[in-house]
Amino acid sequence: MNQSEIDFFDRLAPQWDANEVKSTPERVRSILSKLPLAPGQEILDLGTGTGVLLPYLSEAVGDAGRVVGIDLSEGMLSRARKKYGHLPNVELLKLDFEEEQIPGMYDVVMLFCVYPHLHSPYDTLKWLFKMNIKPGGCAVVAFSSDEKFINAIHHERDSDSDHLAPAPVLAREISSWGFRTEVLAATPDEYIVLIKTDDQQA
Ligand SMILES: C[S@@+](CC[C@H](N)C(=O)[O-])C[C@H]1O[C@@H](n2cnc3c(N)ncnc32)[C@H](O)[C@@H]1O
Repeated sequence: MNQSEIDFFDRLAPQWDANEVKSTPERVRSILSKLPLAPGQEILDLGTGTGVLLPYLSEAVGDAGRVVGIDLSEGMLSRARKKYGHLPNVELLKLDFEEEQIPGMYDVVMLFCVYPHLHSPYDTLKWLFKMNIKPGGCAVVAFSSDEKFINAIHHERDSDSDHLAPAPVLAREISSWGFRTEVLAATPDEYIVLIKTDDQQA
């Protein structure tokens, strides 16, 4: 993530929650209900932003589990800290998850409303599965809308390089990199692609 991207998210941070129309509690709960989440798990939330997923992930893993949220925008992260820093099973870290080593191994790695911002999705996924995902674990690319909504926003912001393909197309592309993928939802309200590797026992 370069400085102008950090500045961009820092500028958006104060209004992020007020402008959030898609990630309603109902929709977030519905998306998470389709994922292999369970009490006691360790979950990584990459690009946690203001922490939209954190209370739900915290609840899903319970006291025996752990949720680590990562972001490089201090503006975003400070809001997440203020809202959810008190949750005993939630930790927040400031680092670049595509460039720096992430501590720990996780059952589920969430990439929620983040995938179009990755600079090197292939390398990032390979590295995550090697260094941060437990055997049998998975990564999840998800959005609380379809790709049309996401692409319209990125077009308005003049960042067409952040183009998002439809879920089946993205799943095929990621499969072609040697991962196993499954489209769990592809509707106007939910976009979910589950990613595993053959190296990992399911
Ligand atoms: C579109 S926002 C989504 C935030 C949150 N997941 C949500 O749904 O509200 C993307 C977030 O990812 C963060 N981000 C993008 N690339 C990153 C990277 N390489 N390392 C750390 N954070 C990153 C940005 O700072 C931003 O807060």
